[in-house]
Amino acid sequence: MMIDWIDHYKIGVDKIDRQHEEIISTINQLIILHEAAKDKNAVMTVFIGLINYFIYHFEREEILMSEYGYSDLERRRYENDMFCNNLEIAKLDYINGDLPSLAYIIDYIKIWLIDHIVIEDKKFSSECGLTV
Ligand SMILES: [Fe+2]
Repeated sequence: MMIDWIDHYKIGVDKIDRQHEEIISTINQLIILHEAAKDKNAVMTVFIGLINYFIYHFEREEILMSEYGYSDLERRRYENDMFCNNLEIAKLDYINGDLPSLAYIIDYIKIWLIDHIVIEDKKFSSECGLTV
Protein backbone atom coordinates (compact mmCIF):
# COMPACT_ATOMS: atom_id res chain seq x y z
CA MET A 1 0.00 0.00 0.00
CA MET A 2 1.36 3.42 -0.92
CA ILE A 3 2.08 6.09 1.69
CA ASP A 4 0.10 9.33 1.60
CA TRP A 5 1.96 12.46 2.67
CA ILE A 6 -0.06 14.03 5.49
CA ASP A 7 0.42 17.13 7.62
CA HIS A 8 1.04 14.95 10.66
CA TYR A 9 4.43 14.09 9.11
CA LYS A 10 5.63 17.71 9.16
CA ILE A 11 8.31 18.24 11.78
CA GLY A 12 8.44 22.02 11.38
CA VAL A 13 11.62 22.32 9.31
CA ASP A 14 10.71 22.96 5.66
CA LYS A 15 13.82 21.51 4.03
CA ILE A 16 13.58 18.34 6.12
CA ASP A 17 9.85 18.00 5.41
CA ARG A 18 10.57 18.28 1.67
CA GLN A 19 13.23 15.55 1.95
CA HIS A 20 10.79 13.28 3.79
CA GLU A 21 8.24 13.92 1.04
CA GLU A 22 10.83 12.96 -1.57
CA ILE A 23 11.63 9.74 0.32
CA ILE A 24 7.94 8.83 0.51
CA SER A 25 7.53 9.55 -3.21
CA THR A 26 10.47 7.24 -4.01
CA ILE A 27 9.09 4.47 -1.77
CA ASN A 28 5.78 4.80 -3.63
CA GLN A 29 7.63 4.40 -6.95
CA LEU A 30 9.17 1.22 -5.57
CA ILE A 31 5.73 -0.07 -4.52
CA ILE A 32 4.33 0.65 -8.00
CA LEU A 33 7.23 -1.22 -9.65
CA HIS A 34 6.85 -4.12 -7.25
CA GLU A 35 3.09 -4.41 -7.82
CA ALA A 36 3.59 -4.17 -11.58
CA ALA A 37 6.14 -7.01 -11.31
CA LYS A 38 8.71 -4.99 -13.24
CA ASP A 39 12.11 -6.45 -13.95
CA LYS A 40 14.86 -6.43 -11.36
CA ASN A 41 16.88 -3.72 -13.08
CA ALA A 42 14.04 -1.21 -12.87
CA VAL A 43 13.50 -2.05 -9.20
CA MET A 44 17.22 -1.84 -8.44
CA THR A 45 17.57 1.58 -10.06
CA VAL A 46 14.88 3.02 -7.79
CA PHE A 47 16.07 1.08 -4.74
CA ILE A 48 19.68 2.27 -5.11
CA GLY A 49 18.40 5.82 -5.63
CA LEU A 50 16.40 5.50 -2.42
CA ILE A 51 19.41 4.25 -0.43
CA ASN A 52 21.53 7.14 -1.72
CA TYR A 53 18.82 9.64 -0.86
CA PHE A 54 18.53 8.23 2.66
CA ILE A 55 22.30 8.67 3.08
CA TYR A 56 22.04 12.28 1.84
CA HIS A 57 19.06 12.94 4.13
CA PHE A 58 20.78 11.54 7.22
CA GLU A 59 23.89 13.63 6.51
CA ARG A 60 21.79 16.81 6.26
CA GLU A 61 19.88 15.98 9.44
CA GLU A 62 22.99 15.10 11.41
CA ILE A 63 24.61 18.41 10.41
CA LEU A 64 21.47 20.27 11.52
CA MET A 65 21.35 18.32 14.80
CA SER A 66 25.00 19.10 15.40
CA GLU A 67 24.42 22.82 14.76
CA TYR A 68 21.60 22.83 17.31
CA GLY A 69 23.52 20.73 19.84
CA TYR A 70 20.88 18.01 19.85
CA SER A 71 21.31 15.79 22.93
CA ASP A 72 20.50 12.50 21.20
CA LEU A 73 22.68 12.92 18.09
CA GLU A 74 25.05 10.01 18.74
CA ARG A 75 22.22 7.50 19.13
CA ARG A 76 20.61 8.88 15.98
CA ARG A 77 23.88 8.46 14.04
CA TYR A 78 24.07 4.85 15.22
CA GLU A 79 20.46 4.10 14.25
CA ASN A 80 20.87 5.75 10.83
CA ASP A 81 24.03 3.72 10.18
CA MET A 82 22.31 0.49 11.22
CA PHE A 83 19.39 1.24 8.92
CA CYS A 84 21.69 1.98 5.96
CA ASN A 85 23.59 -1.26 6.65
CA ASN A 86 20.31 -3.19 6.65
CA LEU A 87 19.34 -1.62 3.32
CA GLU A 88 22.71 -2.60 1.83
CA ILE A 89 22.22 -6.19 3.02
CA ALA A 90 18.66 -6.22 1.63
CA LYS A 91 19.97 -4.89 -1.68
CA LEU A 92 22.56 -7.66 -1.95
CA ASP A 93 19.99 -10.29 -0.94
CA TYR A 94 17.63 -8.98 -3.59
CA ILE A 95 20.35 -9.01 -6.27
CA ASN A 96 21.28 -12.57 -5.32
CA GLY A 97 17.65 -13.67 -5.38
CA ASP A 98 17.65 -14.62 -1.72
CA LEU A 99 15.04 -13.84 0.89
CA PRO A 100 13.80 -11.43 2.18
CA SER A 101 11.40 -10.59 -0.58
CA LEU A 102 10.97 -7.08 -1.92
CA ALA A 103 7.56 -6.82 -0.21
CA TYR A 104 9.24 -7.48 3.15
CA ILE A 105 11.94 -4.89 2.44
CA ILE A 106 9.35 -2.26 1.48
CA ASP A 107 7.34 -2.92 4.66
CA TYR A 108 10.50 -2.65 6.78
CA ILE A 109 11.41 0.69 5.16
CA LYS A 110 7.87 2.07 5.59
CA ILE A 111 7.67 1.17 9.28
CA TRP A 112 11.17 2.47 9.97
CA LEU A 113 10.54 5.74 8.11
CA ILE A 114 7.27 6.59 9.86
CA ASP A 115 8.92 6.01 13.25
CA HIS A 116 11.91 8.09 12.08
CA ILE A 117 9.67 11.04 11.17
CA VAL A 118 6.91 10.95 13.77
CA ILE A 119 8.97 9.89 16.80
CA GLU A 120 12.63 10.66 16.17
CA ASP A 121 12.68 13.77 13.99
CA LYS A 122 9.78 15.36 15.90
CA LYS A 123 11.68 14.78 19.15
CA PHE A 124 14.63 16.65 17.64
CA SER A 125 12.60 19.58 16.27
CA SER A 126 10.69 19.84 19.53
CA GLU A 127 13.77 19.79 21.78
CA CYS A 128 15.55 22.35 19.60
CA GLY A 129 12.56 24.68 19.32
CA LEU A 130 12.09 24.27 15.56
CA THR A 131 8.43 23.27 15.52
CA VAL A 132 5.98 25.56 13.74
FE1 LIG B 1 14.39 12.57 8.72
